Amino acid sequence: MTSIIKQSVQKTHTSEFLDHSETYAEVLKTFRLKLAQVCSHGSEAAIEKHRSRGKLLARERINLLVDPQTPFLELSSFAAYNQYDNAFPSAGIVTGIGLVQGHECLIIANDATVKGGTYVRETIKKHVRAQEIARQNKLICIYLVDSGGIYLPEQANVFPDRFDFGRVFYNQARMSAEGIPQLSVVMGSCTAGGAYVPAMSDETIMVRNQGTIFIGGPPLVLAATGEEVTPEDLGGAEVHTSISGVADHIAEDDTDALKICRNIVAGLPFPEKQRLDITPMKEPLSPADELYGYLPVDLKKPVNIHAIIERLVDGSEFREFKANYGKTLVTGFSRIWGFPIGIIANKSFLTSESALKGTHFIQLCVQRKIPILFLQNITGFIVGKKYEHQGIARDGAKLINAVANASVPKFTVIIGGSFGAGNYAMAGRAFDPHFLFMWPHSRISVMGGEQASGVLKSVGNKDSADTLMNEFIEQSSATYSSSRLWDDGIIDPVDTRKVLAMAISVSLNRSFDNPGYGVFRM
Ligand code: COA
Repeated sequence: MTSIIKQSVQKTHTSEFLDHSETYAEVLKTFRLKLAQVCSHGSEAAIEKHRSRGKLLARERINLLVDPQTPFLELSSFAAYNQYDNAFPSAGIVTGIGLVQGHECLIIANDATVKGGTYVRETIKKHVRAQEIARQNKLICIYLVDSGGIYLPEQANVFPDRFDFGRVFYNQARMSAEGIPQLSVVMGSCTAGGAYVPAMSDETIMVRNQGTIFIGGPPLVLAATGEEVTPEDLGGAEVHTSISGVADHIAEDDTDALKICRNIVAGLPFPEKQRLDITPMKEPLSPADELYGYLPVDLKKPVNIHAIIERLVDGSEFREFKANYGKTLVTGFSRIWGFPIGIIANKSFLTSESALKGTHFIQLCVQRKIPILFLQNITGFIVGKKYEHQGIARDGAKLINAVANASVPKFTVIIGGSFGAGNYAMAGRAFDPHFLFMWPHSRISVMGGEQASGVLKSVGNKDSADTLMNEFIEQSSATYSSSRLWDDGIIDPVDTRKVLAMAISVSLNRSFDNPGYGVFRM
């Protein structure tokens, strides 16, 4: 017998609900203001210079590339936020997923109005992460290139290491070997290593009198060889489409180039999707904006997780699994936008029972080939002598093992706190969920600020305890996390269904692997 639990529509006008809604309105106001700032490209002067050359802005280019009236899921808009004196809004690169001629594509667009589209550490992290997403979800990858390469003052932080600039080209080669189509549209500069982005693509379009590709620009050539040459003669669109063969198609301007790109995508095959039992989408019974009324900004307060799930899933239908066991973890089956989904959500800290329940539930999802959504609001595993003696570490290890090896797509949304090892057990970044998003008020750190300060005091370091608490508070915010690419973006809770629907849809481009677990400590 299935027991469909349609949680009764909660009374939405308790004073607590209203308080939460009011406080959340403030959180959202700040969030939207910051989002507008980071999405506004470079300085006015840089934008004017860019436009005077007949070029479109990065987000305008993306708008023209994707199918009209379809959503574009922009990722990590807050990259580099509050770093480098805020000179790199969105880290000077826009990435995201959109539909081009009906194909799901990952788009990576340099923003030349931000320091000439050059790369700092976060720009590279964002570029590489976008490629990872394209690879994991078998998405056509489109590069809208307009970049001066490495931001030279930061070279030591961006050039030599494993996941630094070189990784971009390594990824291109590996993705190509896996049959993932990659297209480049060169709409500006492509210098030094950056030249390999178009050179390693399947097909490359260049804009006449605007796009350039060269391993060494004119100043470098002059210094190295004494040869004087203009950028156009060295590596312009005419040169590369008719002499060198580095590029394949010439376009008259940005709009023409994007049109050519759309035509190429139209000719690409559609991937075979993993089969899932998909049903028609149903809206939840309660409006999504009621979510705000269930989100205390004070993360110490309990959260009504059923009320949240009810507002996220189709028809508010949640078939709960083991409702009466290990109650600090809520598990069950639902649908989002018609896609089946297994939900694992925290109600409180993790116990042995809840860890075992989570492990069992993951096995069910894997066997039934149902993707898993983790709703993280976790202070960690329960502590104390009694629980250590019961073997909390052993049972926690089972959950961590199951999460790491689950062979179905995993999606994580941090809806409150993400603290300590609870982060790992609930598919934190290190566990490679397909996507990880944060709600604006959420926080992430190894432990809460007060707890960290308490720990330091107890180990005799009283002086730094207060400083540490303040640091923890600052360093645990969602914008701090997103600035460093610890997540794929901060989303408004009301957009969660839409975002997850898109994420689940793209995850089906690769067939789910066969389950395989390591050793479970019994
Ligand atoms: N490192 C650091 N800063 C750079 C840079 C680089 N590689 N390339 C550009 N910038 C900075 C400029 O100093 C300028 O900074 P500002 O806004 O603080 O004044 C800003 O980016 C814009 O550059 P500018 O030259 O005014 O813009 P542009 O649109 O006319 O030209 C480029 C852009 C990228 C074509 C041009 O700056 C260039 O050729 N840069 C050098 C590229 C290079 O040789 N890279 C090799 C690195 S691997």
